[in-house]
Amino acid sequence: MDSFPQVDPIPLPAPVWLFKVLQCVTLTLHFTAVHFMVGGLLLATWWAIRGRRSGDERLLSASGTIAHLLPVVVAYVINLGIPPLLFAQVLYGRALYTSSILLGVFWIMVIFMLVAAYFIMYKMAKRADTGLAYGWMGLIALALILKIGFVYTNNMTLMLRPDAWVEMYRSNPTGAHLAHGDPTILPRWLYMMLGSVGMAGIGLMLLGMKPGLEKSTAAFLRGRGGILLSVFTLVQIVLAVIVYRTQPEAVRAGIFASLYYKSVFGAWFLSAHALVALGVFGALSAARRAWLPVALAAAVGFVNIALWVLFRDGIRDVTLGLHGYDVWARAVYTNWLNVILFLILFVAAVGLSGWMGLVAVQAKGADEQHA
Ligand code: HEM
Repeated sequence: MDSFPQVDPIPLPAPVWLFKVLQCVTLTLHFTAVHFMVGGLLLATWWAIRGRRSGDERLLSASGTIAHLLPVVVAYVINLGIPPLLFAQVLYGRALYTSSILLGVFWIMVIFMLVAAYFIMYKMAKRADTGLAYGWMGLIALALILKIGFVYTNNMTLMLRPDAWVEMYRSNPTGAHLAHGDPTILPRWLYMMLGSVGMAGIGLMLLGMKPGLEKSTAAFLRGRGGILLSVFTLVQIVLAVIVYRTQPEAVRAGIFASLYYKSVFGAWFLSAHALVALGVFGALSAARRAWLPVALAAAVGFVNIALWVLFRDGIRDVTLGLHGYDVWARAVYTNWLNVILFLILFVAAVGLSGWMGLVAVQAKGADEQHA
């Protein structure tokens, strides 16, 4: 417990369980947006490059459609990332602030990398309109986004290693630590980044249901979406097992000893297999405009992300618990009036954000040229 800074003397203004629920709900929304952004950017870039080389109009059109949606998705990534960050700081501030300081240079750089990637994605959408090449721009944006994801994975892992903090600070106090040799970092990062392609597959399946699309383009989007969902969910299953197996032995034992965490992982495993099956089903029925596989894939995909969020939460609590940090032991002084007011505003804000997203996706620009 010595490595943790002193606890804040101000008690929490709401129960720990409420902060936990809010943290997990908002993080699930953030991860959903992150998956669509990373997977969407990868596909838009890849299809822009391939489409230009082969002159395949269908690839160029699909790439342009995705490129148009990306700036909106980035706005969701950012706005849905702030709430879980605030809740994580409330619950785990003493661990998270310390790791953020140790990799401070990269943590601050996230802002600049994000602004640059966001700017590039706007440019990509513009160039898609005018028929100019933008694959090379996509590659730059992708490199920046992947790096941001890597910094996040590093920070969320380093916050779980209080035994390493003092030595790291002594060896270099400038905040320039990254990839500190922890074996869990690479699989954890790959899980999020490669898994994004599978989740973007669900996005393609949904896009393929848009009314007014040319039949072959719609079937192409649904078919590719299903295949990507199946293949990359399989990759994700392998990576999830590696994430678990690379945890320290005591953490694995702690997770295994808890019926709740075991059930969460079991349910995640089932949902992942259901996604593989739904992807195959979606690909096989791509020629027809069938809502069932698409709606099911979207619902199961969301549940799958939520279960992963709960499992990560388990890894964090078990790991920190082994170092003497019990998140449930915080002093609480609940101000219920504020809590109720907050919850009303929270539900209204989530509803409004969902509605705005729907309007943005359904909107048909005056000069729309893509699928
Ligand atoms: C391009 C932008 C972003 C990418 C690619 C990204 C990616 C990620 C990834 C990969 C993780 C999981 C790390 C892990 O556990 O392995 C993560 C977690 C997280 N991200 Fe983002 N993120 C982005 C932007 C943001 C922004 C702008 C915020 C907040 C302002 C944010 C807040 C969070 C929080 C709070 C967590 C983890 C919380 C927790 O573990 O409780 N992210 N993000």
